[in-house]
Amino acid sequence: MCSGCLALALATISDCYEENYQTGDKSINTLFRWKQIDYDFPSEEEHRAALESGAFIPLNVIPLGIERWKDRVFVSTPRWKSGVPATLSALALDGITTTSSPPLQPYPSWDWHNSDSNCSTFTSVFRMNIDHCGTMWVLDSGQVDAFETPRQLCPPSLTAIDLTTDTVIVKYNIPEQFVLQNSLITNILVDSRDAQCRDLHVYIADAWRFGLIVFRASDGAFWRFSHYTFYPEPLLSNYTLHGLNYQWSDGLFGMSLGKYHQGDRPLYYHAMSSSTEFFVMTSVIRDPSRVNDSVGEFKLLGEHRGPDGQVSAAAVDRNGVMFYNLISRDSIGCWNTRKPYLESNLGVAAHDDRSLVFPNDLRIDHDVPQYVWVITNRLPMFQFNLINPEEYNYRVMFLDPAKAVQGTVCDSDTI
Ligand SMILES: *[C@@H]1O[C@H](CO)[C@@H](O)[C@H](O)[C@H]1NC(C)=O
Ligand SMILES: *[C@@H]1O[C@H](CO)[C@@H](O)[C@H](O)[C@H]1NC(C)=O
Ligand SMILES: *[C@@H]1O[C@H](CO)[C@@H](O)[C@H](O)[C@H]1NC(C)=O
Repeated sequence: MCSGCLALALATISDCYEENYQTGDKSINTLFRWKQIDYDFPSEEEHRAALESGAFIPLNVIPLGIERWKDRVFVSTPRWKSGVPATLSALALDGITTTSSPPLQPYPSWDWHNSDSNCSTFTSVFRMNIDHCGTMWVLDSGQVDAFETPRQLCPPSLTAIDLTTDTVIVKYNIPEQFVLQNSLITNILVDSRDAQCRDLHVYIADAWRFGLIVFRASDGAFWRFSHYTFYPEPLLSNYTLHGLNYQWSDGLFGMSLGKYHQGDRPLYYHAMSSSTEFFVMTSVIRDPSRVNDSVGEFKLLGEHRGPDGQVSAAAVDRNGVMFYNLISRDSIGCWNTRKPYLESNLGVAAHDDRSLVFPNDLRIDHDVPQYVWVITNRLPMFQFNLINPEEYNYRVMFLDPAKAVQGTVCDSDTI
């Protein structure tokens, strides 16, 4: 199925998805959902052998990152606990007419997921971001067993995969001097501007050591800097989700890009354990000679999001509306970037206390029309071993951004 038809199919058959939540004229749909993740092993014998040997422990697999390109979505499954046979997978979108629980197809192939490797393959992929030229940039932490006994098997790395040919173009290790003791390099954002993606930079967030790493594709250079706005807020480090109280002090995490205008665009960013959004012009952070003496260029965007206002990932659509995961409110928030960042201008694009428990990653694809893709994964329950394998725990969801904001303060027609 061509991707144009696919978009049409997503729009017209969304009524067929089992989980189709409508709140007035807002909607979010579940495309895939799993009680437990399974993989498409080469054979039933290998599947059984992996289960028997502990190479595959379904309860230890959690999906984290999401991306979409044409007729596929990509899902990462970091190796936080033992028994994760592959860490990056693809799922076909064609022919999907109802909510299903397909096995993950390791990507680009099983050969890339042999954890005994010499670091030429994947170790533990966190997140991916696809540029508009069809290259997927993959962030690999290089670390396994983070929730058990962490072992840094390989340096954190950035891999570029050509999605037309499914081949790896290049893999860069993040230089040692930019990875600090206890760094948690968790999120990535590609900033590409011209039609050929020549001026491409990648922004990489270190949530535990409060740093931003910039990668410049033209010469493979990296640089790193820190800023006090990358730190968590103490009171917002105290979370309560469906009765579970936990403390996370995660700093810089969510990043999204505003409109490109006169050679520049803002980077919006926030710490995860925070209710505050900041911005900096990308011309500042793309110039390594400026980052360290531009402290005043990193600015508060506006008002706070209030209690329970913690946000993981965010992205801005073609109409200039930011969508963001409200991880303590089972919701996707929205903000029209043309309006001031005031609490009264922050809307809710989707809310569901069953399917939207801990929306973790969020991306907006490059298709026409665009869709917003969300993965929900109950991460705090996973961390504290409270996942119930009899329930649906993990979901790939999508929403039509134009429809989702209709009638909310995020709609451009609403002033
Ligand atoms: C890593 O291992 C692979 C497969 O065994 C081999 O093809 C490759 O040359 C090795 N790379 C390095 C840098 O040793
Ligand atoms: C953290 O949250 C719990 C549960 O809401 C609350 O009882 C506790 O007082 C909070 N701690 C602080 C320091 O605010
Ligand atoms: C900024 O300053 C820090 C601390 O001195 C240093 O580690 C870092 O490399 C500097 N970054 C750049 C891009 O100059």
